[in-house]
Amino acid sequence: MNFVDMIIKKRDGGKLSAKEIAAFVKGVTDGSLPDYQISAFLMAVLFRGMDAEETAHLTMEMANSGSVFDLSAVAGKKADKHSTGGVADTTTLILAPLVASTGVPVVKMSGRGLGFSGGTIDKLESIPGFRVNISEQEAIAYAQKSNLVLMSQTDTLTPADRKLYALRDVTGTVDSLPLIAASIMSKKIAAGADGIVLDVKCGSGAFMKDLPSAQALAKTMADMGHHVGRKVTAVISSMAQPLGQNIGNRLEVIEAIEVLKGNVKGDLLEVSLLLGGHMLLLSERVQTVEEGISLLQKQIDNGAGLAKFRELLLQQGGDPAIIEDYGKLPLSANSVTVFAKTDGYVFAMDTASIGRASLETGAGRMVKEQQIDFGAGIVMKKRLGDVVTAGEPLAVVYSQTQAQCERAAAILSDAITIDTQPPAPTPLVLDIIS
Ligand code: URA
Repeated sequence: MNFVDMIIKKRDGGKLSAKEIAAFVKGVTDGSLPDYQISAFLMAVLFRGMDAEETAHLTMEMANSGSVFDLSAVAGKKADKHSTGGVADTTTLILAPLVASTGVPVVKMSGRGLGFSGGTIDKLESIPGFRVNISEQEAIAYAQKSNLVLMSQTDTLTPADRKLYALRDVTGTVDSLPLIAASIMSKKIAAGADGIVLDVKCGSGAFMKDLPSAQALAKTMADMGHHVGRKVTAVISSMAQPLGQNIGNRLEVIEAIEVLKGNVKGDLLEVSLLLGGHMLLLSERVQTVEEGISLLQKQIDNGAGLAKFRELLLQQGGDPAIIEDYGKLPLSANSVTVFAKTDGYVFAMDTASIGRASLETGAGRMVKEQQIDFGAGIVMKKRLGDVVTAGEPLAVVYSQTQAQCERAAAILSDAITIDTQPPAPTPLVLDIIS
């Protein structure tokens, strides 16, 4: 097959056949297609889109590009979860130990940062000693013992996604509905869980900026899951502002631990409990989502969620002393505070730009091979609707160099709008599709 013709066909808005999509995924998987042609193809898809049939073919070819995880040796109904990508979106580190502590097995393969959004694997790697590269046999043994495994995609599972994900991250081709749907659902289908909860982010800090596109993505992924016999619930949640207070790997680990200790309330906790509640419902551990949410809150109050997180660290080589001593996590040497220039209300946040400011600190990648600075990031001091006075801190930026801090601070300062009027309240949860 002439791959240049295929790029041109998509570039000009044509529909690809099942055979063409299969050839593309094969070329990505076996390494015969060069990065520049794959990247050109991804850009053509970003501009021209794919219809439902093409997206389904792409998803299934990617799901079958490697081996499929067989979790049948782990007793009970397995729950999985995936976010479409957000900023300060640390829900996995909170809900995975909480759900596992109720007896529901969670074997979750997570990803690295993508575009301006963070990734669970990068966050876990900021914990000294934590091993994310776990074999399938190891994962099954851990799940049988502790109910909880957080791991990187194995070499054999969806190799096509691994390659495409890394290229999309650095070629401006992340925010495409068919590419996101195929990336997420290929992995979830191959990862073998019975129930899948999707957190579809919507707003300025999400790849889907408005509700209709978030609903379209949610429906595409839910339909695909149902088609292959999986239970799927998609929660559409707001990314009008960073979900938590902390952005960046070390910082997000700390905030997740604080939530598990019961010290932090607010939107991050609320979304984590809602997603976790749906995981418990899909796994038939509870009869209603409300019952699931109160069970998970109980696991925070009685310390069971935090104990499960400690067990996870011990199991995968992470230093459990970080739970009591955050000084054991790396911290970048320099910091700059961003101050409000005028009095007023925090009216709007360009959350994707806040995510990009965090990349500027070194907390994410600008090129594929870039080493992350785990100690870099941003602590947000204000939320939408808060009253501010001129000279008050809006955020603190941490990075290895003063120049990086200042570049990130300048982006942040432009990303936060202060007005004399408060913004209209926006709901945290915009829709649920199941
Ligand atoms: N998460 C993924 O795994 N893939 C995407 O494309 C976006 C978020």
